[in-house]
Amino acid sequence: MAAPLVGKLLVLGGSSFVGKHLLARLTTAQYTATYAANACPGTVKFDCTSMRLAEAVGDLAAFDQALLLLGDTQPDSCVRDPARSQAVNVDGIKRVIGDLLAAGVRPIFVSSEFVFDGNKGRYSETDMPNPILLYGVQKLAVERYLESVTEDYAVLRLAKVYGGEIGDGTLFTNWLPAIERGGQQKCASDQRFSPIYVDDVVDALLKVAESRVRGVFHLGGPEGLSRMECLEALLTQVRSVRPVAVETVPCRINDFEFSETRPVDVSMRIDKLAAEIGFSPRRVEDFCHSLMAAK
Ligand SMILES: NC(=O)c1ccc[n+]([C@@H]2O[C@H](COP(=O)([O-])OP(=O)(O)OC[C@H]3O[C@@H](n4cnc5c(N)ncnc54)[C@H](OP(=O)(O)O)[C@@H]3O)[C@@H](O)[C@H]2O)c1
Repeated sequence: MAAPLVGKLLVLGGSSFVGKHLLARLTTAQYTATYAANACPGTVKFDCTSMRLAEAVGDLAAFDQALLLLGDTQPDSCVRDPARSQAVNVDGIKRVIGDLLAAGVRPIFVSSEFVFDGNKGRYSETDMPNPILLYGVQKLAVERYLESVTEDYAVLRLAKVYGGEIGDGTLFTNWLPAIERGGQQKCASDQRFSPIYVDDVVDALLKVAESRVRGVFHLGGPEGLSRMECLEALLTQVRSVRPVAVETVPCRINDFEFSETRPVDVSMRIDKLAAEIGFSPRRVEDFCHSLMAAK
């Protein structure tokens, strides 16, 4: 069923994981969407490092709001080539925001849980960001820029997103083949986050666009969980269907070789957004139950 948006939405990064799920919920008359390298149905080419927005999507006055999903979204990739990630994640996006505001289009920017250093957890919007990953530094730079140039914007600091299709490369579906194979499964028991199902992300983004709420909001699942707790939740549901020979081996997130030290606890409180738009994302346990019921 198409969502009841008022004006036309510009979806920048329509070819993203979140973007594809969002576009599936809209009619083609409700949006124009872009891709950069990976064309997908209903999108037009836009590279924010080499093109101006109007070249790709025409008269910007046709749009009411723009959802900014585009970017280099992998922390390791950002730090591997800092000049390129700066060009995309900061300079390109700032130029896009400038063009949007000049045309009277309201920006909705999707930021990240990684604006926090992960030392505290259960972050609320009043907690001070202090990114330790370059990716988080870049997200925060755009947040700061936005709040310096307009009051009519929304920033959604998104938590780890998961999907429900095998091969989608997300948390739970990645584990299923390993569980099938059996054996030892090493998993971080210290890393905590607020994982959120992609359909719940889409619900929230559409409600933010419809309600035109302003300011910075945390967008995550209803609970802070460790990566190991997520794996155990999935294993419990798999075991309710069939026996599996998996031994979980706890470790620390920074035992894995990342280019930068990972923040440990980036769990976020979502009460502010829930109160504003009235959304209630599903719990991991319920998702894992439906995942196994659907198999
Ligand atoms: N997924 C998560 O768990 C998560 C968590 C926190 C925050 N976020 C944020 O949520 C948003 C969506 O995440 P996602 O995982 O769905 O993203 P994604 O799948 O990694 O997609 C990134 C998007 O950016 C586009 N893009 C890349 N370089 C570009 C350029 N130079 N010019 C214009 N567009 C460019 C890509 O286009 P092509 O693919 O066509 O090249 C793609 O549409 C991102 O802003 C991300 O930082 C995601």
